[in-house]
Amino acid sequence: MYRVKKAVIPAAGLGTRFLPATKAMPKEMLPIVDKPTIQYIIEEAIESGIEDIIIITGKGKRAIEDHFDSVPELEANLIAKNKSDLLHLVEETTNINIHFIRQSKPKGLGDAILQAKAFIGNEPFVVMLGDDIVQAEIPCTRQLIEQYERTNCSIIGVQQVRNQDTQRYGIVDPSNSISEDLHKVKSFVEKPALGTAPSNLAILGRYLLKPDIFTYLETQIVGSGGEVQLTDAISRLNEFDEVLAYEFRGRRYDVGEKLGFIQTTLEFALKRDDLGDDVARMMKELLAERASRTSSV
Ligand code: G1P
Repeated sequence: MYRVKKAVIPAAGLGTRFLPATKAMPKEMLPIVDKPTIQYIIEEAIESGIEDIIIITGKGKRAIEDHFDSVPELEANLIAKNKSDLLHLVEETTNINIHFIRQSKPKGLGDAILQAKAFIGNEPFVVMLGDDIVQAEIPCTRQLIEQYERTNCSIIGVQQVRNQDTQRYGIVDPSNSISEDLHKVKSFVEKPALGTAPSNLAILGRYLLKPDIFTYLETQIVGSGGEVQLTDAISRLNEFDEVLAYEFRGRRYDVGEKLGFIQTTLEFALKRDDLGDDVARMMKELLAERASRTSSV
């Protein structure tokens, strides 16, 4: 069995939900407190034992490459000022083996992943979506790798979502369960119309795939939203080589939409030793102010 060493992180999306902030800045660089969202994803990859990362970028994404490059002037300045804490933070992002490839036209997630074919070669690999940050005792990607090592199957990370949210995700049509949290799958459906979802098990941005997926991506016709969907290719792969759905442990944050982004920012700030108490006090004051404003109206 191959060891899983490579990760693909698609970051070619236009980020229209965050306009105008994303007009000149990639959405992956928006910070949760003080760290760009994509850095949380990369940290999870490294904590999961991933050694090589490829980020699929597109137009206007150069800031991501710069973020993971060294900045000698900044480093020299921090050394001269004896700011070793900050120097450590800056260096943390440069000692990682990251590669970049550009998707010339945004044709969908499936097409973005296909760009990584030559880099991946004939090995199983993980796909990590930047809109989904997962906080877990065992990093989510590590959990998927463990399931793969047990079963030798492609593994898709899923969790239960509310009925009204199924239309936003790839949804699993499960068949038999292998254990409480590991399921065989009849098919995978991308963004089923409201009320038609075969279950509440949603794909939440973590995939472990065998390289055969590329055969299906190469011939995948456009699906939901007029885009080449990874979910559709996975469903076809599953007909020939079993793909399992694994209910990972951990809390997943959706930083791809505004409310989720704000919630993540608040929760992460509240958990910080240096900020948590002040943020809690500030929130209390703001809520009290808001309550007195609405009651006096
Ligand atoms: C993508 C996938 C979808 C998955 C979701 C998870 O959709 O196509 O299957 O459930 O990510 O966040 P997107 O959110 O990019 O539309």
